[in-house]
Amino acid sequence: MWKFPNPVKHAIPETRWPSAEEAARSLLFQPIRIGRSELTSRTWVPAMVPWRATEDGFVTQANIDWYRRFAAGQPGALVVEATGVRDIPSGPLLRIGADRFIPGLRQLVKAVREASDGRTRLFIQIIDFLAVKRRPEGEKYFKRFLRITDRHRQTIAETSNDQSWLGRDEAEVRAFLASTGDEALEHILDERELESLRFGYRERVNDTELAHVRELPQVLPGIFAAAAGRAREAGFDGVELHYAHAYTMASFLSARNTRTDGYGGQREHRVRLPLEVYRAVRDCVGEDYIVGVRFLSDEVIERGSRVSDATYFGVEFARAGLDERL
Ligand SMILES: Cc1cc2nc3c(=O)[nH]c(=O)nc-3n(C[C@H](O)[C@H](O)[C@H](O)COP(=O)(O)O)c2cc1C
Repeated sequence: MWKFPNPVKHAIPETRWPSAEEAARSLLFQPIRIGRSELTSRTWVPAMVPWRATEDGFVTQANIDWYRRFAAGQPGALVVEATGVRDIPSGPLLRIGADRFIPGLRQLVKAVREASDGRTRLFIQIIDFLAVKRRPEGEKYFKRFLRITDRHRQTIAETSNDQSWLGRDEAEVRAFLASTGDEALEHILDERELESLRFGYRERVNDTELAHVRELPQVLPGIFAAAAGRAREAGFDGVELHYAHAYTMASFLSARNTRTDGYGGQREHRVRLPLEVYRAVRDCVGEDYIVGVRFLSDEVIERGSRVSDATYFGVEFARAGLDERL
């Protein structure tokens, strides 16, 4: 295991726990108004996926127990884990992509209301994500997943100094690649192919040759809006749009989004779909409902968005009417 070369050990300072009265007087436990929402205190439990839903996305007793325990501490706000807006298989992740999920979510809301004595505002984070596949074994990747093109034949011919590769059939190219070392592969495969080989296949919002990726701007506003409507029906106080991490909406905001259909490139275009999704949600849930957003201040990836982008997005979100700091 790696260790710090020169660890500095700090003595643990003498501490005194505050008395119940001191704690009650502290700012952390004072009420606060955030946008349309009044919280009883400033404590906030963010979304965390515990993978406790059923394989088909329904709320389980284990989910209810998990949230009941958080709620017993009466945080000012509690955000239920990232919950899928589509009705597609996604393992034990909660779903809100169809009406049949509402009764389970309603039970969860009831459990939180009871355990917190009504003192916790309850939100649900709603998420869309694109396909991600586990890293395949090298041989399988070359045999089944990699699409062989003339670019591969060309590069193999160049690196091996053997022009006969230009006319070889697909099976031969696959077999060659499967038996080739890392260094040569770095010349033959492009960046995306190497990534799929090393980390697994990941769909990107830039993959507009795929019809379902091309059509995201047309379908997502309606899908998010319907999900938010169900959240309201289940009794949540509001929804948090998941525009963070590496999921679909964050990928639209990303500086790496190079779509040329008006939804990528310059940041005015990258923010367009996130705003359209918000407007569809707002139209569905009405003016009085809380609609917040989680988005990144810095993507912390090469060629990703930076704080200056986030500042711009934040202003646009606020201007559109999203609730602050949800
Ligand atoms: C098990 C686990 C699951 C998480 N799931 C989500 C999630 O569903 N949505 C999300 O936005 N963040 C998720 N996070 C990130 C947390 O919300 C939180 O930001 C993180 O634990 C860091 O805490 P901090 O933001 O208070 O520093 C998850 C974190 C953990 C540990």
